[in-house]
Amino acid sequence: MDKKIIVALIYGYLIANGVPIALSQTAETPELYSQRPPMAQSQIEEFETIVKFQKEESLSLWAPIPGWAYGYDSQPQPGDTLSVPTPANRVILYGEDVEELARPLTIEGSSATFSRQDIRHAQDVIDWFPEDYPPMADIIKHGPESLRGEADWACGSCHLPNGKGRPSNAPTAGLPAAYMAQQLYDMRDGLRYSADPRKPNMPNMIRMARAMTDAEIQESSEFWAAVPWTRRLHVIEADLIPEMYLNLNNNMFFTVGTEPTEALAGRIVETPIDTHQADYLRNPRSGFNVYVPVGSLAKGEELVVNGGAGKTIQCGVCHGQDLMGIGLIPGIAGRSPSYMMRQLYDMKQGTRNGNGAQLMKPVIGNLSIEDMTNIVAYLASIIPPAPVPGEL
Ligand code: HEC
Ligand code: HEC
Repeated sequence: MDKKIIVALIYGYLIANGVPIALSQTAETPELYSQRPPMAQSQIEEFETIVKFQKEESLSLWAPIPGWAYGYDSQPQPGDTLSVPTPANRVILYGEDVEELARPLTIEGSSATFSRQDIRHAQDVIDWFPEDYPPMADIIKHGPESLRGEADWACGSCHLPNGKGRPSNAPTAGLPAAYMAQQLYDMRDGLRYSADPRKPNMPNMIRMARAMTDAEIQESSEFWAAVPWTRRLHVIEADLIPEMYLNLNNNMFFTVGTEPTEALAGRIVETPIDTHQADYLRNPRSGFNVYVPVGSLAKGEELVVNGGAGKTIQCGVCHGQDLMGIGLIPGIAGRSPSYMMRQLYDMKQGTRNGNGAQLMKPVIGNLSIEDMTNIVAYLASIIPPAPVPGEL
């Protein structure tokens, strides 16, 4: 048999069995791999332990889960399994378009140039708009020091360097530093996890909190606390919305239709205004459309501002009159309604149960899922005050 065919057969066998191998390594052709390098074995085990804990603790709690907030269109089932995620990086996989991945890309308003390979690297976060935040702290760019050297994530890859976050994680910009540090300790100590056992990035986040030193917790919290929270959402009341594609790999809704044909049906759908900007280029300034049920804004406002005639407590009492956060209490105005909804639901379930969460118990005790939906719709519609000129 021709030697080339034998080599091809061996490679084919290795690829089919998931063995990571370099397919070609000459100067002219870039290296191609059959798969990305996995996390360190100890981190895979850590991830699996947290997944098991999250599942055991959350599955028996009150249902139904507001699936839209967690990025699902179904309810969790006892048999659901969670596979270990692998961080993206510059490695080009067999079958990917080498030219496209290496092509230099730009964004309006930015003087930087990055390729898709740079953009997707989870452990070397790119800087499209360095003027929007203080110089990126090492931990935001490269992740906790104890996880470097092996494939893993940096904080800025999920939360974006400007802390705007994505609907599936959390907006961290402009939160009080002491509040954020406390959340990281709560996650580390098993006091904060997801009420949806399928949610994969929560165990990943908890794993990171457990890998951080006190100094790193301080450094990352101070970094994002110094970035002002600014507008990123455009809220629209609607019965019918454009057709959506729910990507179950990153738990995000993407707009695929142009005409309103899909029933919103009591959900809130948060979707990038421009998918290419938000997802492919990871433009951290790119905003989101938020479709909310007709009538939800007025009902939410009544609960938030007046407490709904004793049904709940006026949020401004603790979160500050402008709801932008104060002291140890986080800002809740103009932030991702999917994230906000998960927090209310998780706190009601008790899967978010640190000291601070006890103060929220009387707030959420009498609230139904519909009330919470109305509340987070209204909160999302608040436009945060513009930062003072000269402030970052
Ligand atoms: C794999 C994605 C991912 C990475 C990487 C990541 N996070 Fe998170 N982060 C999350 C998710 C998911 C949540 C919680 C979302 C939820 O509760 O629904 C979260 C929540 C948080 C919160 C709580 C925010 C709040 O309002 O209470 C803080 C603070 C935070 N992360 C900091 C960090 C820091 C610091 C790093 C880097 C060491 C980091 N994150 C890395 C996904 C990530
Ligand atoms: C008695 C004080 C108090 C009141 C009133 C209150 N909150 Fe809170 N809220 C808190 C505290 C404290 C936290 C931080 C919880 C923690 O440390 O885990 C919090 C956290 C939250 C969070 C999570 C934010 C994040 O970044 O993770 C949301 C959402 C929230 N509150 C919504 C509301 C809404 C909506 C209202 C009004 C209906 C309200 N809160 C009224 C004290 C309060």
